[in-house]
Amino acid sequence: DEEEEQKTLQQHAQLLTELPKALGTFETDLYLYQGMWLYPDAILSIMLMQNHFNHHPTDIFLTSFMKSGTTWLRSLMFTILNRSRFDFSNHPLLRKGPHDCFPVLDLYKPKDYNITNTKPLPSNSPRLFATHFAYKMLPSSITEPSSGCKFVYVCRDPKDVLVSIWHFNIGLRPKELPPLSFEQVFNMFCEGVIEYGPYWDQVLGFWNAALESPDKILFFKYEEMKRDPEVHVKKLAEFMGLPISIQEEESGMVKKIVEFCSFEHLKSLEINKTGSHKANNGNVVPNQSFFRKGEVGDWKCHLTEEMKDRIDRITYDKFKDSGLTL
Ligand code: A3P
Repeated sequence: DEEEEQKTLQQHAQLLTELPKALGTFETDLYLYQGMWLYPDAILSIMLMQNHFNHHPTDIFLTSFMKSGTTWLRSLMFTILNRSRFDFSNHPLLRKGPHDCFPVLDLYKPKDYNITNTKPLPSNSPRLFATHFAYKMLPSSITEPSSGCKFVYVCRDPKDVLVSIWHFNIGLRPKELPPLSFEQVFNMFCEGVIEYGPYWDQVLGFWNAALESPDKILFFKYEEMKRDPEVHVKKLAEFMGLPISIQEEESGMVKKIVEFCSFEHLKSLEINKTGSHKANNGNVVPNQSFFRKGEVGDWKCHLTEEMKDRIDRITYDKFKDSGLTL
């Protein structure tokens, strides 16, 4: 196994000398790998995943483009799945940030894949993983219909995604770098040369896969979740194989989950005001950077009429034959 991992590491080093590259928002190189712009450690991670990830038929993957509502879905999925184990007054999410509840696969190294390759405990309990990788990049062992694995995808209006990315980048930007203007990020986003971009290709990949396999992929929209979170909690619970029972419904369980995982509640928790998440590449990300405004339509405060038209035009062109409307 170690020999195989060494081979992947060598292939990765070789690839970096061959792939097209361009500067990302942190002024380091992004590389175009299998149609997606990624930083080198993410490329290594997907290569390792493609070669060494052992799925279990009960695995559930939270998939999204970055800044589309992953933190919210993380909290909801973890809370729904463990609702009979934990009381809301003494819940793990009160002590650790949503990003520490289950692993993101995008920055894994060989030794970490040993950790993610552990068997679920108890044996029939789904393992949860998050990823921003494109559907077509995920190992076919998990995407093929017989794998048993399931995917929850959340998408969001690209204009709000862009604004959220800009704020997130500003928050994490090393002080020695020059300031990052909104125009810069806007152009990178529209051109698709942004981490995990182009946005539209990633969304369409999951949208088409969800049309093909609706039992395997649950496709949510952030804006619809905001409008009716209770309906989405019920759908999620059913999809994850733990439907809300009539007794639970009567006891107000759905409302409790929605309130517990609401933006206002999670943002107000001490752990999300002062705590931080240590990513697998060693980067420390303050939990508060995952909670900004949590609103629909904040783009109106940032985009000019011209910018709005440009993104809407790209979205229209890319999505017009897909049936997907945002
Ligand atoms: P804004 O920057 O527009 O506020 P991700 O979790 O995919 O990184 O996305 C982050 C976006 O989701 C941020 O959007 C953040 O504020 C918002 N968010 C985080 N937790 C949320 C929640 N519980 N409910 C709704 N939105 C949430």
